[in-house]
Amino acid sequence: MTPELTAIDHIGIAVADLEAAIDHYRDDLGLVVSHRERVESQGVDEVMLTLGGSAIQLLGALGADTPVGRFLASRGPGLHHVAYRVDDLTMTLEELRTRKVRLIDEVPRPGSLGTSIAFLHPKATGGVLVELVQHPATPR
Ligand code: CO
Repeated sequence: MTPELTAIDHIGIAVADLEAAIDHYRDDLGLVVSHRERVESQGVDEVMLTLGGSAIQLLGALGADTPVGRFLASRGPGLHHVAYRVDDLTMTLEELRTRKVRLIDEVPRPGSLGTSIAFLHPKATGGVLVELVQHPATPR
């Protein structure tokens, strides 16, 4: 069996100025902020703007010594990760392991909005950081 990715859940974008980015996406592009959450454990402020069945996830760093802070310092603002939706994250990680795909997260961890998430290693995915997302109750 191959892992079943069912949709692009969101695109993660690292921003240097979160409030300016929100203004841009809302006022210039007309997207609507659907959720905002500070995830202290990851050192990040997350803002979700949903469109269609997908979303843009703006990521602001809570400090220089955080994953997004280090990303901004080395690469600058821009595309941070692509997140795919899956129905069963544990099973998907199992499938990826059997395919020797390099993982950052060996087991699912909590994401925002009650999701379970796991990251694959960008070395395994052609330089793109990939996140897998399982929603609490995935509609089928
Ligand atoms: Co994400």
